[in-house]
Amino acid sequence: MEKSRFFCLILTISLCLLPSCARKNVETKGIILGFSQIGAESAWRNCNTRSVQEAAAGAGIQLLFFNAEQKQENQIKAIRSFIAYQVDIIAFVPIVSDGWENVLEEAKEANIPVLICDREINIQDESLYAGYLGTNMLAQGRSSAEYLIKKFVNPETGQFLEESGKPVRIVELRGTEGSSPAIMRAKGFRDILAGYSGFEIIYSESGDFLRSKGYELMCNILEELDEIDVIYSHNDGMTLGAIDAMKERGIKPGEDIIIISIDAEQAAIDALKRGEINCVVECNPKQGPDIMRLSALLAGNESIPRVIFMEEEVFTEWDDLSGIAPRGY
Ligand code: AHR
Repeated sequence: MEKSRFFCLILTISLCLLPSCARKNVETKGIILGFSQIGAESAWRNCNTRSVQEAAAGAGIQLLFFNAEQKQENQIKAIRSFIAYQVDIIAFVPIVSDGWENVLEEAKEANIPVLICDREINIQDESLYAGYLGTNMLAQGRSSAEYLIKKFVNPETGQFLEESGKPVRIVELRGTEGSSPAIMRAKGFRDILAGYSGFEIIYSESGDFLRSKGYELMCNILEELDEIDVIYSHNDGMTLGAIDAMKERGIKPGEDIIIISIDAEQAAIDALKRGEINCVVECNPKQGPDIMRLSALLAGNESIPRVIFMEEEVFTEWDDLSGIAPRGY
């Protein structure tokens, strides 16, 4: 599709998606923010999108919103369209970490500041973007492993609580291949477990952050593997799919198999309360207000911090779970 037609398409989609009060600002001289979202793969992602759209409307920022439907090439096209439109700020959630140099150089040449949101990028020239706002995915992987250590290792002796002497056998459900959450959550988890010889990751596969793939993967895994002690899942969507597969086979999640999940969607917190998940590590999707605040600073030619992480919590089976606020996703 030639560039100008593609841009018209984006603009049409964007204007349809604009909340009504943001639409009122279309003709004002307010900030114009081009935002490329990766898609709608999870309840977490939908909340992230809502947060951006509501915050833009609340701040009177005109949002050109584009859903890339899980394709990096669509994100690159959207960013090029934002450049052609001469938006004030470009913000995007990079579906994968690599491959952004060319389009970011184009944004830099056009003097448009770029804010990276939610997922990190892997790039040599850091001057190609203004800053990153998102969550600490390395810490999420580390927290997941720290829960396991508390569960299986005596803190005083450092000895494994398992009397059988067998290693703790872990299955990992990874996120989208090449994405920063998949890379960092896998790394943080391994970094911590490396200090202990009694844990073994016996299987690791990508379920693309999708509930349907979490289910499918778990069906296959349960056919292939007899002894699984732990499921470490990179997001709640895949976890909930895996739990469905376990229940269908009479396996008690949280009891027969220990489950650690990342995101803290309402459905996962409910499962934690029922004892079907043992540890939930929060990944905070409500990034919209901070994105608007940073966009306003950038539009005023002010500098912003290189990295801002959202505040997050870890919820475990040992905590008092009665006070957890409704999640909204
Ligand atoms: O990038 C954040 C991840 O993407 C969330 O953990 C997951 O649910 C989403 O799809």
